[in-house]
Amino acid sequence: MQFFPLASGDRIPALGLGTWKSAPGVVYAAVKEALAAGYRHIDCAPAYQNEAEVGQAIAEAMAAGTATRQELWLTSKLWNNAHAPDQVQPALEKTLADLRVDWLDLYLIHWPVAFKPGVMFPQRAEDYITLDALPIRETWKALEACVNKGLVRNIGVCNFSVAKLAALCAQAAIQPAMNQIELHPYLQQTAMLAFCRERNIQVTAYSPLGSGDRPAGMKKSDEPTLLDNPIVLRIAAKHGITPAQTLLAWGLGRKTVVIPKSVNPERLRQNLAAADLTLDAQDMAEMAALDRGYRFVDGSFFAGSGSPYTLANLWDE
Ligand code: A2P
Repeated sequence: MQFFPLASGDRIPALGLGTWKSAPGVVYAAVKEALAAGYRHIDCAPAYQNEAEVGQAIAEAMAAGTATRQELWLTSKLWNNAHAPDQVQPALEKTLADLRVDWLDLYLIHWPVAFKPGVMFPQRAEDYITLDALPIRETWKALEACVNKGLVRNIGVCNFSVAKLAALCAQAAIQPAMNQIELHPYLQQTAMLAFCRERNIQVTAYSPLGSGDRPAGMKKSDEPTLLDNPIVLRIAAKHGITPAQTLLAWGLGRKTVVIPKSVNPERLRQNLAAADLTLDAQDMAEMAALDRGYRFVDGSFFAGSGSPYTLANLWDE
């Protein structure tokens, strides 16, 4: 397994297990299976509504001696309903309790979107708070305090545009260590990678396989699929690997952390094995041509009628 360095000097395992969409009742077995197979990095979030079960699997694996806490990399995320500075530490403490650990390796602001306290998923315009009313820098200061208290070793963001990241960097005492973003051959994020490299910010690629198991409401009828793209299939056949491994090896080859989700034992192992695969320069050039700026997770669920958030002000595009 490769590791990528963060600004703090910590090293993040380059391939982790995604847990978004891993259903309660299923995720426990998946995390146990993953840890037994050799995964050491688990990507979590309270918004996935399965953290307590993930925590049970981690606690049992640690008790059984599968891995020590120091060998594990645990990432979680601050949900949109806890951006208010006095809500940040309690939200982190709830995640720590659910994951049954004393500290996280990485804690991320899940979206540059704020909800009123207690709102899990907004139903009406009044459920939102604008970023003018509750600026990211206020949330960030509270995250910095959590680092200083030893509750989390590294802090970062998800789904931030270059403009939002640059604004945060200009105001932060502790620089963001990570931007976790949707990233795959149809959304290659080249400008973001260049910006992050310049600022010593690592990038994690979510939905590296195209998240085909998103709920129907989050899918478009005409959306492209990654796992059956002819170029991906051709490169996979050339190396005798699977399309999913091709996509993961592509992400790792671009020095981005990848967090494929699976709850299937065979696919979990197959994905982990991709950490040892490399594509050649010709493969990388062919994959580069697949970019089409396509988001599977476009944030339109935050941009309903009356919401202060729009796709334009979310992505700054
Ligand atoms: P499953 O959990 O049944 O394995 P993403 O990580 O982009 O969100 O994609 C997750 C989706 O990809 C899930 O539907 C998952 O199904 C599926 N998946 C995970 N690993 C593989 C693989 N190696 N081959 C094909 N599909 C996979």
